[in-house]
Amino acid sequence: MLVEVIDTYELMSQRAAEIVAEQVHRKPTSVIGFATGSTPKRLYELLIQEHDERGLDFSKVTTFNLDEYVGLPPKHDQSYHYYMWENLFNHIDVNPSNVHIPHGMADDIDHFCAWYEEQIEAAGGIDLQILGIGANGHLAFNEPGSSLGSRTRIKTLTEKTVKDNARFFDDPDMVPEYAITMGIGTIMEADRLLLVASGERKAQAIRNTLEGPVTAMCPATIVQLHQHSHIIIDKDAATALDYRHHHGIAEPKE
Ligand code: F6R
Repeated sequence: MLVEVIDTYELMSQRAAEIVAEQVHRKPTSVIGFATGSTPKRLYELLIQEHDERGLDFSKVTTFNLDEYVGLPPKHDQSYHYYMWENLFNHIDVNPSNVHIPHGMADDIDHFCAWYEEQIEAAGGIDLQILGIGANGHLAFNEPGSSLGSRTRIKTLTEKTVKDNARFFDDPDMVPEYAITMGIGTIMEADRLLLVASGERKAQAIRNTLEGPVTAMCPATIVQLHQHSHIIIDKDAATALDYRHHHGIAEPKE
């Protein structure tokens, strides 16, 4: 586990973008796992800039997203399909047939989840998986209590998540209660994990993840068991760490 504490959200995003760009340069046919949410937004802007200004070539890259809401059509502005196309895929030269995002409108969800796992395997596995972390320690939609060996499946969202999401929806009936998510076991099979976190809101989850015991009650703690996990956080997300100086935070020791 390699932990880097970087001064600001901007610098953290730049460091993460460097790692993704290096992966794509080194292996143009890379399989990259993508996350949604607010944290990787700047990272995605920087990848678009790399593509525009330095020709970073995504044409042979295959992508797999972590999760998607059940019942939201891809064009819905709260769907993770919409997010990925708006924030990244529409602006780079990725081949749409190489893009995989769980299908929230699948008729047979169990069958779809098994197919998704097969597609990851058929692509040769994920080379680099980008991850965010929830304030409660969730990874993708694997909320506390999720099995650490889980595979892609349907999960019921917690009441809190449903309530939190309601503000994004005009129609309360459209607030999803279920999501499809890669499992923790699926995520752990990626060759490399790149977890990004920013802000004090994540400080406790980051402390549990890096310094707490591995437990299903904080699914992100599983990154401790991965051989190549790289955790990049900004200073605010590092405030609760006992060993933050050990992680090279750029400030004098008190
Ligand atoms: C999204 C995902 C989630 C987010 C997490 C953090 O695909 O997997 O686990 O990474 O909820 O979200 P933000 O970055 O919005 O704080």
